Amino acid sequence: MKKKILWVTGASTGIGREIAKLFSKNDFIVVATARRKSRLVSLVQEIKFAGNEASAFVCDVSSERSVFNTFKRIKERYGQIDVLVNNAGVTSFKSFADSKIYDFDYMMDINLRGSFLCIKSVLPQMLKKRKGHIINILSVAVHSKLENSSLYAASKAGLLAMSDGLRLEVRGYNIKVTNIMPGAVDTPMWDSRTRQKKRNRMMTPEDIASVVFDVVNKPNKLQIEEVVLRPQKGDL
Ligand SMILES: NC(=O)c1ccc[n+]([C@@H]2O[C@H](COP(=O)([O-])OP(=O)(O)OC[C@H]3O[C@@H](n4cnc5c(N)ncnc54)[C@H](OP(=O)(O)O)[C@@H]3O)[C@@H](O)[C@H]2O)c1
Repeated sequence: MKKKILWVTGASTGIGREIAKLFSKNDFIVVATARRKSRLVSLVQEIKFAGNEASAFVCDVSSERSVFNTFKRIKERYGQIDVLVNNAGVTSFKSFADSKIYDFDYMMDINLRGSFLCIKSVLPQMLKKRKGHIINILSVAVHSKLENSSLYAASKAGLLAMSDGLRLEVRGYNIKVTNIMPGAVDTPMWDSRTRQKKRNRMMTPEDIASVVFDVVNKPNKLQIEEVVLRPQKGDL
């Protein structure tokens, strides 16, 4: 059976790295992208050592040229993308008053515009082939009204609204769009003090990867549109 191709952005650490590892173990060819080359190289080595297939490309999702060049290289190597996981993301945990215009632009450029650029690059081919799955890693911040996360929440809420509209336009082409909204996950997104103190309250990146895997592996006729995931004991 021909293996499917999955492109996961922000695969150098955390949730994206675990998604890459899990799918590669389960008959997907994984294309892992992020900015830090050394971490991507070690990921691909780990996957290949386990006997599975992966490639890595350095890609900054905030750069139009970087995203489109990366997609061109993926297309040259594999010909198609079956699943795109828009996982690359940043936050800042700052109050609105302390946030600078730079913080706004930085978060919108990566979390919202970056996902837009990746979707724009894969979509024409998915429409032509009348199949594909786009998965966005959002956050419970979209609904939970958290303090010190207003810009982050705005960037993720923008992506939620964009994807909900997109889903309506592409469902007739057999393309699925799924929004995953995790609460706290034990990844480098949190500072090391918080991770040490609250780790036992947090979900793991492997937990999130396993849900993404389930979502992708549902029957063709079934579309999971939205998944909210929280630590058993609630938000931190
Ligand atoms: N951890 C949580 O509690 C939590 C909760 C809800 C949602 N999320 C979401 O989950 C996603 C993954 O985050 P994580 O928790 O796994 O944190 P993480 O370990 O810090 O991972 C973030 C990833 O994004 C990549 N990235 C950042 N800026 C980028 C850019 N300009 N271009 C390309 N890649 C970029 C980073 O790689 P490079 O630096 O190498 O580029 C890294 O691989 C994010 O979208 C985040 O908002 C996380």
